Amino acid sequence: MKIFRAHGTAAVVGIAMMLLLSFAAARAQEPKTANAPTGNANNGKVLFMKDGCYQCHGREGQGSNMSGPRIAPNPPPLEVILGYVRKPTGEMPPYTAKVISDQELTDIYAYLQSRPHAEKEKAEQLMK
Ligand code: HEC
Repeated sequence: MKIFRAHGTAAVVGIAMMLLLSFAAARAQEPKTANAPTGNANNGKVLFMKDGCYQCHGREGQGSNMSGPRIAPNPPPLEVILGYVRKPTGEMPPYTAKVISDQELTDIYAYLQSRPHAEKEKAEQLMK
């Protein structure tokens, strides 16, 4: 009987260890998603159209000689966008935080980043 009890204890300890480990693994993954600015590219696309960015920068953010520079698929860093959109220094109209929030700009940033790279750029990256 002693043997049985020993097995039982070992099993309980084993299950407890497994629970502990999976808990630790889940915790370890948390900071990644919590700290990085997370943008929703799909929502960003909607906002890019709704807020009129596309009118000057093109639907894909590809830019146009006539109205606005290319801002995708390699947009300026998020901090630059957050700063520039509020206080542009050239032709671009300003957007206050009331019109478009930081979170919305983060979504737009995610959308711009998610645009497919042109074939030429792809090829250049493969060469590196
Ligand atoms: C009326 C046209 C127009 C609209 C609308 C517009 N932009 Fe612009 N944007 C420009 C122009 C032109 C520039 C180039 C600098 C300048 O003249 O202000 C620019 C510059 C920028 C830059 C800086 C690019 C760089 O490399 O420094 C960012 C980022 C940007 N726009 C994002 C946006 C976003 C996001 C929106 C929508 C919320 C938007 N723009 C709406 C015309 C526009």
